[in-house]
Amino acid sequence: MSSLSDLYLKDREYIAGTYTRTKLDVDYAEGCYLVDINGDKYLDMYSGISVNLAGHSEKTIIGAIIEQSNKYIHLSNNFISKSSVELAEILVNNTFAKKIFFSNSGTEANETAIKVARKYGRNICSDKTKILSAYNSFHGRTMGSLSLTGQSKYQENFKPLLSNIDYFEYNNVEDLEKKVSDDVCAVFVELIQGEGGIVPISQDFINKLSTLSNRYNFLIVVDEIQTGLGRTGKFLACEHFEIKPDIVTLAKGLGGGLPIGATLLGDKCRDILVKGDHGSTFAPNPVASAAGVAVLKIILDDKFLKNINEKHDYLVNRLKKLHNIYPKIIKDIRASGLMLGIDVGDYGQIIKDKALENKLLLNITAGKIIRLLPALNITYEELDSFIQKFNHIVCEAYLNEV
Ligand SMILES: Cc1ncc(COP(=O)(O)O)c(C=O)c1O
Repeated sequence: MSSLSDLYLKDREYIAGTYTRTKLDVDYAEGCYLVDINGDKYLDMYSGISVNLAGHSEKTIIGAIIEQSNKYIHLSNNFISKSSVELAEILVNNTFAKKIFFSNSGTEANETAIKVARKYGRNICSDKTKILSAYNSFHGRTMGSLSLTGQSKYQENFKPLLSNIDYFEYNNVEDLEKKVSDDVCAVFVELIQGEGGIVPISQDFINKLSTLSNRYNFLIVVDEIQTGLGRTGKFLACEHFEIKPDIVTLAKGLGGGLPIGATLLGDKCRDILVKGDHGSTFAPNPVASAAGVAVLKIILDDKFLKNINEKHDYLVNRLKKLHNIYPKIIKDIRASGLMLGIDVGDYGQIIKDKALENKLLLNITAGKIIRLLPALNITYEELDSFIQKFNHIVCEAYLNEV
């Protein structure tokens, strides 16, 4: 049997070094736990960065994967796959969408939205091609989506990017108004900036965006790759706000861990893409689609969404108590459903490392925000276990300071 260090050396040798690895040799994963080769269980508080929405190894998802795999895994888009049509039908019946374009990831779902937006704009006027997105946003890493990701640390080494893109200050209505003009075909926005540090949008900003969209006739594209599929306690985070999106992009948990992305197209752009405009060899993969149907059957149960909101209250109340005890370490808590950001300033890395020692898996984003994205069916016992471990770690960090 190879040791963890062997695995690390080989990973470094053979796989491009774009990721920071957690030192854990995972044997299998179940529910909210990763289990290492020694049988030690680690509480996973970010569920594959919000992919394993119903926990790891969920039985009905595995069942759907096996059943579809036994029929066929891939056919090509020359044939219709029943599971993909079923997945599209569920998405249309439960959202504003009229049609769906499937891809294989979040960044691809946004690439599709970019193409739809550009074609929509050109159909109105040849130079209506400008796209706006927010500073501090995250929309993916392929060249189009990267061009919209308003953070220079991701963009700098890869310029020149897509032309005719501009950025506005998130939640700054004056800046948005300044940037919008007749040549804008779309504005991309996250309703909670996820990778940017769990920063929510304001209703004022949405109101201005809607007014400007009516005045200048641009599409509102909402990137719900992180906020969608029940994460915030509603099927789409859009449902928390008064907003009428023209396009919503989804991915992450949609395929229950298998790769699939979806671009949800509303009335204005349902028929923009025609034969030959866009495509993918793999998408929609029939097995990922079957898994997607199983995922949506779980999430779209009213009780499931209600439970998320109750667990939100339970978790936030306990975190607020810790915030009151350790204000120097826990500086702020921002949360919607089971998408939470705990601002711990410079303590991020220490807390993350200590968490691993305590068999707790935490994710840090924007350098200082502990981003909690647990499985949406996490139990109260597991939430208690998280609070108990987290309390212990924060207390230790506090005592080391005083
Ligand atoms: C809001 C948002 N958009 C787009 C993406 C990119 O998705 P993917 O990594 O599947 O390409 C992410 C990934 O974290 C995301 O959070």
